[in-house]
Amino acid sequence: MRKNREKKKVVVLGSTGSIGRSALQVLKSFEDRFEIFGLSAHKNFELFKKQIREYNPKMAVLTQAESYEKVKRGYINNRIKIEFGAESINQMVSFPEVDIVINAIVGSAGLLPSFATLRAGKTLALANKESLVMAGELLTDLAKKKGSEILPVDSEHSAIKQCLLAGEKNEVKRLILTASGGPFYLTKKKDLSRVTVSEALSHPTWEMGKKITIDSATLMNKGLEVIEAHWLFGIPASQIKVIIHPQSVVHSMVEFVDGTLIAQMSKPDMKMPLQYALLYPERIETNDNFLNLTRIKNLIFLEPDLGRFPALKFCYFALELGGTAPSVLNAANEVAVESFLHRKLSFDKIPMLVRKVLSAHKIKNNPSLEEILEADRWAREESKKFIQRESNR
Ligand SMILES: NC(=O)c1ccc[n+]([C@@H]2O[C@H](COP(=O)([O-])OP(=O)(O)OC[C@H]3O[C@@H](n4cnc5c(N)ncnc54)[C@H](OP(=O)(O)O)[C@@H]3O)[C@@H](O)[C@H]2O)c1
Repeated sequence: MRKNREKKKVVVLGSTGSIGRSALQVLKSFEDRFEIFGLSAHKNFELFKKQIREYNPKMAVLTQAESYEKVKRGYINNRIKIEFGAESINQMVSFPEVDIVINAIVGSAGLLPSFATLRAGKTLALANKESLVMAGELLTDLAKKKGSEILPVDSEHSAIKQCLLAGEKNEVKRLILTASGGPFYLTKKKDLSRVTVSEALSHPTWEMGKKITIDSATLMNKGLEVIEAHWLFGIPASQIKVIIHPQSVVHSMVEFVDGTLIAQMSKPDMKMPLQYALLYPERIETNDNFLNLTRIKNLIFLEPDLGRFPALKFCYFALELGGTAPSVLNAANEVAVESFLHRKLSFDKIPMLVRKVLSAHKIKNNPSLEEILEADRWAREESKKFIQRESNR
C-alpha cells in the first residue's frame, strides 16, 4: 500500500455524467494511488450528494444555482467546501495539491476549466473534446508553455496515442479514426428526417450522455474528433481518415509509411481509456477487461457516407477555415442538438443548421480566447434565429 501523501490528487469535473461516473469507478479501483480532491456537477444534485458522501472530496462545486442551494443546505459547517459557479471550478483545479484534472463536462462549458487546469500547470485528462475544437491552438500552446500534459480520454485518441508508440511522427502516413456509425449508418437519407429522439438516443455500442449520443448519430462527433486529433497529435486534417466500424472493438489505428497498420483493440468500455490516461505511462493488470477475439467473429470496416452524414465534412471544412470557424461549428451544433432533443428541429436539419451558421460567419484568424467566446455567443444567436425561422414555416 502506498503512503497517503504519495497518492495523486484528482479533480473530476462533470462527475455526475457518463464519463464522470466511469472515472470515479476507475479511481476507486486504484484507491491506493489516487485521492479525490474535488468534484463538480451542474443539475444532478441527488447523485452529487451521494458522490460527496461516498468519495469525501475536499471541495465540491455546482454550476447551477438551484442545485447548489439544495446541496449546500446539507453541508453547513462541514469540512467539505461546497461552492458555486464556474469561477469556483477554476479555483478548485488550481489548488497547489491537485495533480490531475479529469474534464468530463459536456459542451463549451468545459472550455474555461481546461484553460484553468493548464494555466495552473496540472495534467489535463480530457474528455471534453469541445475544448480542443473551440481553442485547440491556444490550449496546446498553453500546455507547452506550462509544461502540462493533455492526456486524451476519448477512446479513439487514447488508441492513437498508444498506436503512435510504434513509430516516429515523421513515419506516420495517416491516423484512422473509427466510428461506430451510430444507430442510422444503414438508414436511407429520405428516412433521416423522420428519426425520433428515442431512436437517435439508442446507441448500438456505447452508453453515453445525450449530447454525444446525438453527435454520434449525425457523425458530428467523429468530425469533432478529427479536429481534436489534429490538435492533440499535430497531424494535418488531410492525414486523418474516418472509417465506420460498427462493432467498436478497434478504437482507432495509425498507418505508417511502410504500409504497417497498428490498431488498438479493447472492449468498448470508457473505463479503459480513463485508466490509461490516469496511470499513463504505466499499465496495471486488471481482472475483467479482456477481449475474446473468437467470440467477436468478424470486424467490419466501411467508408462513411458524407451524403447522408454531411456533418463530418463540415468539421473538416471548419478545421481548414481555421480561426473562429470550429468554435462557430461547435456552438451551432450544441444549439441544434438541444433543439432536436426538445423536438424543435428534425434530425436531418442538425447539419443543415450548422452549415448555414458556419457560412454566415466572418472568420477571425488567430483568435484570442475572448474572440473565440464571442464567436460562440454569435453562433448561438444565429442558430436560435434559424430555429425560429424553421418553426414559423
Ligand atoms: N460518454 C462517453 O462515452 C464519452 C466518450 C468520449 C468523450 N466524451 C466526452 O466527454 C464529455 C462528457 O460526456 P458525457 O457523455 O459524460 O456527458 P453527460 O453524461 O451529459 O455528462 C455531462 C457532465 O457535465 C455536467 N454539465 C452539464 N452542463 C454543464 C455546465 N453548463 N457547466 C458545468 N457542468 C455541466 C453534467 O452535470 P449534471 O449531470 O449534474 O447536470 C455532467 O456531470 C463530452 O465532451 C463528450 O464529448 C464522452
